[in-house]
Amino acid sequence: MCGIVGYIGHQEAYPIIIKGLQRLEYRGYDSAGIALYEDGEIHVSKTKGKVEDLKKKAENAANTLGVLGLGHTRWATHGVPNDTNSHPHYSNSGDLVIIHNGIIENYESIKKALQKRGYEFKTDTDTEVLVNLIEEVKNKEGVKLGKAVQLALNQVVGAYAIAVFDRTKPDEIVVAKLGSPLAIGIGENEYFIASDASPFIEYTNNAIYLEDEEMAIIRLGKEIKLRKIKNDAIAYPNILELQLNLEEIEKGGYDHFMLKEIYEQPRAILDTYRGRLLANEGIIRMAGIDQNLEKFLNANRIIIVACGTSWHAGLVAEYIFEDLARIPVEVEYASEFRYRNPVITENDVLIAISQSGETADTLAAIKLAKEKGAFVFGVCNVVGSSIARETHAGAYTHAGPEIGVASTKAFTTQITVLTLIALKLASEKGMFSASKFHEILTELEGIPGKVERTLESNDLVAHISDTYKDSTNCLYLGRGYNFPVALEGALKLKEISYIHAEGYPAAEMKHGPIALIDEQMPVVVIATKKGHYEKVVSNIQEIKSRNGRIIAVVTEGDKTVKELADHVVEVPETLECLTPLLTTIPLQLLSYHIAVMRECNVDQPRNLAKSVTVE
Ligand code: M6R
Repeated sequence: MCGIVGYIGHQEAYPIIIKGLQRLEYRGYDSAGIALYEDGEIHVSKTKGKVEDLKKKAENAANTLGVLGLGHTRWATHGVPNDTNSHPHYSNSGDLVIIHNGIIENYESIKKALQKRGYEFKTDTDTEVLVNLIEEVKNKEGVKLGKAVQLALNQVVGAYAIAVFDRTKPDEIVVAKLGSPLAIGIGENEYFIASDASPFIEYTNNAIYLEDEEMAIIRLGKEIKLRKIKNDAIAYPNILELQLNLEEIEKGGYDHFMLKEIYEQPRAILDTYRGRLLANEGIIRMAGIDQNLEKFLNANRIIIVACGTSWHAGLVAEYIFEDLARIPVEVEYASEFRYRNPVITENDVLIAISQSGETADTLAAIKLAKEKGAFVFGVCNVVGSSIARETHAGAYTHAGPEIGVASTKAFTTQITVLTLIALKLASEKGMFSASKFHEILTELEGIPGKVERTLESNDLVAHISDTYKDSTNCLYLGRGYNFPVALEGALKLKEISYIHAEGYPAAEMKHGPIALIDEQMPVVVIATKKGHYEKVVSNIQEIKSRNGRIIAVVTEGDKTVKELADHVVEVPETLECLTPLLTTIPLQLLSYHIAVMRECNVDQPRNLAKSVTVE
């Protein structure tokens, strides 16, 4: 959580940092701040609220012509979101300024020790403790800033991506990383620092992603120096040429990123299987799987770990792997898995799913599985992310940047990758005839077109949303492959419209939730033709006889459910295992429209952040 931006070079730092912070607001948006250096002075502006609020307050900073600065957009961990606790923080002397994404777990003991030695603290943050620790080490040891940062970091426990500069030496920024992402953009005699590449992609495509336990000393006119934080060993920068372009991270005419990302799904799914799915040849080509085929084929079981929406994609994958490839699968919340002393053996394959590739619990689960000797495979969207680097092998989803906090295209592209993997393993295990395999591949190839058709229901879904926008509760039901879709629909509604919603396997309704049903209760039921259709129709009848309001997602041409439900939204017919890729679309649109009608902040829902880098 939290987004960090820094700049040192020859351009005015203020507009670069402010624009960068706006692009990183998906990482946290409860407060924001900026520190700019000019003529021996540091100008700091910070405020509770969003970057827009900071812009109003930062007139002083906006007027500086400083070419060195740091900015921060916060998701509070230590200390409530208020002006004082906002970053940047500075040291007692006022010389050192820091921005920090992460948590210093032992900050209280360090703080007490510093207080005993005369340090004073104005904020409740762990970050202010860190900057003062750096200052104390610097003065006590008589070392330069880089060394002081290194020595101080060796005393802290926790996670961090930090950037620090010293008022008395304004040609240098020191950065360090452990557990939180940090990228350095390299321009012509200028450097950019950011939590991801979006703040600097319009200036340079060349970037270094720091590895965990690495730090860098960035000095104008000099080459970047990389060091290992623990043992001072020199590290060699791996300069990547990024493929990202600016258009991908802008709204492109849509009112919200979420809507843009919903509409991007046909293209995103196609990009996910492009070059991997060769339907005519009856081949699936995925380097990460091809090179590790034996590991998958000989695995006792596959364990899938993830959080939130990615966990729902994992649940869909469980159905696909077991149904098509007959490989046993267990799906775990990463946050539970990492702490429950799970049985993991060398014959297990662990698949970690994460859009951001930075989710702290998922990363910790990966590390645990690696320690126990399991083979670990990542399914991530963000190229070069921590999870992508930490896993033995993996497959990117290629969804493009997802900025809206509510995951949409990440979900469908994760399912696409996982479907490709399951199909590949199934075919290697000889589970299908060549013609059956060809039929499934061809159907998958046609999914982007069917998603496109499903998106045509947007106006209808907006109309339905108007009827239910003032509901206080909502139930989502699905069976089989569409049970995880029900969970995902409920999560979408909860997180962006703040309406309480629950997802259930349709048949479980009579074991409790049926008691909730009355004429006020909207029930969204996924009732596509394949997959327990008759049984779901019976569930719909049970809801109807209790006067519940039924919104059904059905297969095109369905007549039976149409007679029972209050509203139906059609999706094109497809194979049962591929239905989640279609049925999820109306549910995304429903939550989107309801949230807009309730005047909620769709892209930045309260209390949330896109990337959950704290546990
Ligand atoms: O980046 P990840 O996929 O690891 O993120 C996991 C969850 O935090 C994420 O899916 C979250 O639940 C979304 N806000 C859901 O829309």
